[in-house]
Amino acid sequence: MKPNLSTRRTNRGNNMKNKTVHNIRQSSIKMDNPKPNLFTKSENLRIRKATKKDYKKIAEIYKLCFTKEEYGEVWTQNMTLKKIIILSKYCDIFVVVADNETIGFAAINPNKWYIGRFADIEEIGIHPKHQDKGYGKQLLKFIENYYKKKNYSYLIFTVNKTAKAYKKYKQMKYSEDKNGALFMRQLK
Ligand SMILES: CC(C)(COP(=O)(O)OP(=O)(O)OC[C@H]1O[C@@H](n2cnc3c(N)ncnc32)[C@H](O)[C@@H]1OP(=O)(O)O)[C@@H](O)C(=O)NCCC(=O)NCCS
Repeated sequence: MKPNLSTRRTNRGNNMKNKTVHNIRQSSIKMDNPKPNLFTKSENLRIRKATKKDYKKIAEIYKLCFTKEEYGEVWTQNMTLKKIIILSKYCDIFVVVADNETIGFAAINPNKWYIGRFADIEEIGIHPKHQDKGYGKQLLKFIENYYKKKNYSYLIFTVNKTAKAYKKYKQMKYSEDKNGALFMRQLK
């Protein structure tokens, strides 16, 4: 089934001039590793559900990832911590731990729109000093496997076309939705 994505959108960033794109993984997802809660490529890499003890570190990574020109956002540690606590109320939060250091996270809303069908990556970030090393791809693969196992139909997320992440998602062969549109009206 092709989802109707023409409404109910969110966008990152307050620069509303940025175009936004909705990426939907429509091809079948290969189950590289069927274990739901532990993904290891090497002995030293783990992806697991976050606990409250992880929030401070996640908040730090969040701040570093999104206080950037490309997103037009300025975050403080207090704000990101607050955001993680809000996300934790309705999202699954995962952390990437490499050599015992937390280097990334993802927050996924498993109840986007139709319950049990769309897993929506609300936030994903790899610590800037660990980007471009393949961790983001492994985290995404893990998320795909995790929700595929739970019988979800789609992994979805939005990203600004101007963000570096956009090129990475294209490289990873995520497909852009051709039917949906992000509607908006500037309020101030
Ligand atoms: C987006 C993000 C999670 C990706 O994680 P990452 O660890 O940097 O990405 P990876 O190293 O796993 O690379 C993923 C793919 O992008 C490719 N890639 C890297 N830089 C690229 C570039 N400039 N152009 C095109 N592709 C690129 C990699 O080659 C890889 O694809 P491949 O394995 O098929 O070769 C991470 O960069 C990040 O946290 N960015 C800041 C926060 C952000 O933008 N979050 C997303 C908001 S929607």
